[in-house]
Amino acid sequence: MLQALIRKFWSSPHGVKWLTCIGINLAIGAYYSAALVAPASSPIKSAWLPGKTTHGHYQIELDCDACHDPNSSDDKHSSQNVMQDACLRCHGEQLKGVDTHPAKKFNDPTNAELLATLDAQNCLSCHAEHVPHQTLEMGLTMPSDYCWHCHQDVADSRPSHDGMAFDSCSTAGCHNYHDNSALYEKFLDDHFGEPDFLDAAINPQRDTVSTVSQKGWPKEKLDRGDADFPESVSVSEPTLADWAETSHAAAGVNCTACHLADQEDNSSWSDAVSLETCGTCHDKQAESFLTGKHGMRLAAGLSPMTPSQARLPMHHDAAHRELDCNACHQGHRFDTAFAATEACLGCHADDHSIAHSQSSHADLWRAEVTGEGDAGSGVSCATCHMPRLQGDDGVWVNHDQNANLRPNEKMAREVCMNCHGLEYSLSALADENLIRNGFSGTPTERNKSVEMAHQWFIERAQKRRERP
Ligand code: HEC
Ligand code: HEC
Ligand code: HEC
Ligand code: HEC
Ligand code: HEC
Ligand code: HEC
Ligand code: HEC
Ligand code: HEC
Ligand code: HEC
Ligand code: HEC
Repeated sequence: MLQALIRKFWSSPHGVKWLTCIGINLAIGAYYSAALVAPASSPIKSAWLPGKTTHGHYQIELDCDACHDPNSSDDKHSSQNVMQDACLRCHGEQLKGVDTHPAKKFNDPTNAELLATLDAQNCLSCHAEHVPHQTLEMGLTMPSDYCWHCHQDVADSRPSHDGMAFDSCSTAGCHNYHDNSALYEKFLDDHFGEPDFLDAAINPQRDTVSTVSQKGWPKEKLDRGDADFPESVSVSEPTLADWAETSHAAAGVNCTACHLADQEDNSSWSDAVSLETCGTCHDKQAESFLTGKHGMRLAAGLSPMTPSQARLPMHHDAAHRELDCNACHQGHRFDTAFAATEACLGCHADDHSIAHSQSSHADLWRAEVTGEGDAGSGVSCATCHMPRLQGDDGVWVNHDQNANLRPNEKMAREVCMNCHGLEYSLSALADENLIRNGFSGTPTERNKSVEMAHQWFIERAQKRRERP
């Protein structure tokens, strides 16, 4: 029977076409099946993607299991098996304590009613994935007038809001859905009336010593004669000099502290130094690096990010440079001034980055580096994108350059307000043209919320006084 079928098949003039057709189908099937079981790093997985992934997640899009439950009994990749706890695992820390609309707010019965129109306890109500045609900034897939669903009666308590447009609540500098740490009324009022340029315009000082002190550093200063590299390793004169003249030798960190793959095994010298090794002494810097756009691929177990994979404009000659600690800290000087601007400009080539060098901020930075300006008076790329933050054990440098990037009011509080008033900072950050030209010139429009909050507190105090 089967044989007869096959014979007929071969003799038929369409047989060859049939076979080709079946062959193609099998090949396609095999391709897709291989994609399903392929490891996360395999580009073949993209065959299953239903659409372009968001700006925030495209770097890790091939790691489907980061968001889709691999043990789900449903169809492996579908909208049913996206794990809300996966969103929280990666973003919970960043939203903790600052989120004005956390899921638990809607457990309260009076607020729970609101969920009928919009399930605000589910991240996916507002952040779907692979739907480029409906995706706005910050992965938002909800029309921007949705605040209105829940806040239709805002003008009852805030007459100033009477007549405002439905979709104007979250325009730059007014409100954010999650993080309002630079926008809540009390904060605005506290910073009412500040001048545009503060008298003491200074960034906090770094305190690297304190951040390594719990790990037993610094130790006694080492000289070039103390270098403990094995004889088998050939070391150039500049390497030795760079090490001996800079912070690691000054703090007693010898060659083997970085170059042994296994600290217990003196014969395990390796010329390459891993992020994990740097992280044994600099854990906060390494951890924060992994949560931003520079380190998120490494965090997902993928190969390091490179400019050739980027969506933003990059220098062509940097296409294949890998993003790890050495991308900015080149051995063996670990020069932080170089890392703060020159290193960035080795890769980034968008208008905003290129314009920075012409700005008055960059003038201040050059003055600081040459010693004409006070320490902390300059503004480098890192000043804004890798701010110095107060931690439990001293000031440290946040290596997640996305932590304050969007919504950008976060940057006002962490950075600009060291030197500018709140109202000026919010106005400048809301001005897209100023961002594009690297902050050269004055904001075209002034932010009104600081003034509005101040008026509201005055009116409230007045009403209280009038009450019998
Ligand atoms: C950063 C998280 C994330 C990653 C990584 C991810 N997805 Fe998704 N995916 C989602 C979300 C969120 C949805 C739900 C969209 C919705 O509800 O409309 C989704 C939905 C889907 C859907 C259903 C689309 C529909 O219209 O029903 C498919 C298919 C899918 N993903 C495939 C994949 C594949 C294949 C990969 C890996 C190559 C992948 N996804 C990686 C978050 C992710
Ligand atoms: C494996 C970790 C990981 C998972 C899982 C994950 N994200 Fe992300 N997400 C990131 C990283 C890293 C970024 C880019 C850095 C940043 O913007 O903070 C990002 C970016 C975003 C952004 C965009 C921010 C911007 O400025 O463009 C949103 C919104 C977001 N994630 C929401 C979600 C939601 C909702 C889920 C669950 C469906 C989710 N994420 C799952 C790591 C993750
Ligand atoms: C009702 C809609 C809504 C829901 C539900 C929602 N978001 Fe958002 N999300 C937004 C909006 C709007 C933005 C843009 C910035 C803003 O207004 O705060 C945003 C921005 C973000 C960002 C980037 C900016 C930031 O502040 O870090 C992340 C990350 C994020 N959301 C994660 C989540 C996660 C995780 C969940 C689920 C726990 C979630 N969102 C639920 C509306 C929502
Ligand atoms: C699903 C319903 C829902 C949506 C959508 C929603 N909110 Fe809210 N919002 C609430 C609830 C509930 C509260 C808490 C009210 C309270 O505690 O009295 C709140 C509180 C607030 C507050 C006061 C926060 C505080 O604690 O000081 C502001 C401001 C606010 N929302 C603005 C917005 C903006 C802007 C949007 C759109 C980007 C938005 N909300 C979208 C339900 C919602
Ligand atoms: C703080 C960590 C650290 C210390 C301490 C350190 N190195 Fe390195 N070393 C590195 C890193 C990182 C690289 C990779 C450099 C790069 O790719 O730019 C490197 C590369 C090297 C290389 C190979 C590439 C080259 O530059 O020739 C040699 C050899 C080397 N180091 C020798 C030494 C010697 C000898 C010492 C002690 C005098 C030392 N290192 C101290 C981190 C360190
Ligand atoms: C064995 C511990 C140890 C290891 C491993 C280590 N460091 Fe350090 N690092 C230190 C100490 C100690 C200091 C000096 C603190 C001080 O006295 O200011 C320091 C200082 C620094 C500084 C500040 C330099 C300055 O001039 O202010 C940078 C940047 C740095 N390390 C980067 C790295 C990188 C990148 C790696 C991995 C290639 C690394 N470190 C590996 C202990 C270590
Ligand atoms: C995108 C560039 C860049 C990358 C990548 C980078 N750094 Fe840094 N790092 C800087 C800059 C810039 C400074 C100095 C900032 C300042 O002076 O405020 C710095 C400062 C430091 C310091 C000293 C300041 C402090 O926090 O006390 C340490 C330690 C450090 N980096 C470690 C690391 C480690 C470990 C890695 C890899 C996980 C890494 N860096 C990757 C740019 C980078
Ligand atoms: C080795 C190349 C390289 C170096 C050096 C580098 N970056 Fe990046 N940077 C990248 C790549 C690649 C991305 C991801 C771009 C994308 O997703 O399109 C990125 C992303 C960013 C982002 C996030 C952009 C966004 O829209 O989410 C910021 C901000 C940033 N870098 C600032 C800096 C700063 C500041 C420095 C110096 C302290 C620096 N970078 C050094 C390659 C580099
Ligand atoms: C005065 C603060 C400041 C300085 C200095 C600064 N930036 Fe930015 N940068 C910002 C702000 C604000 C944004 C826009 C964030 C938003 O709203 O999306 C931004 C955006 C970016 C982006 C994302 C661009 C995009 O289209 O998504 C990159 C990359 C970046 N900056 C790199 C750099 C580099 C490299 C330098 C130094 C040459 C630098 N920045 C200097 C404040 C600054
Ligand atoms: C270390 C202090 C410092 C920080 C931090 C800082 N600035 Fe400035 N900024 C200055 C000083 C000082 C000037 C005036 C420089 C001059 O006129 O020579 C200035 C000028 C400006 C100007 C006007 C430029 C011109 O060409 O007239 C704008 C706009 C601006 N800053 C915005 C910002 C924003 C937005 C931030 C935060 C993202 C910020 N600055 C962070 C100190 C700082």
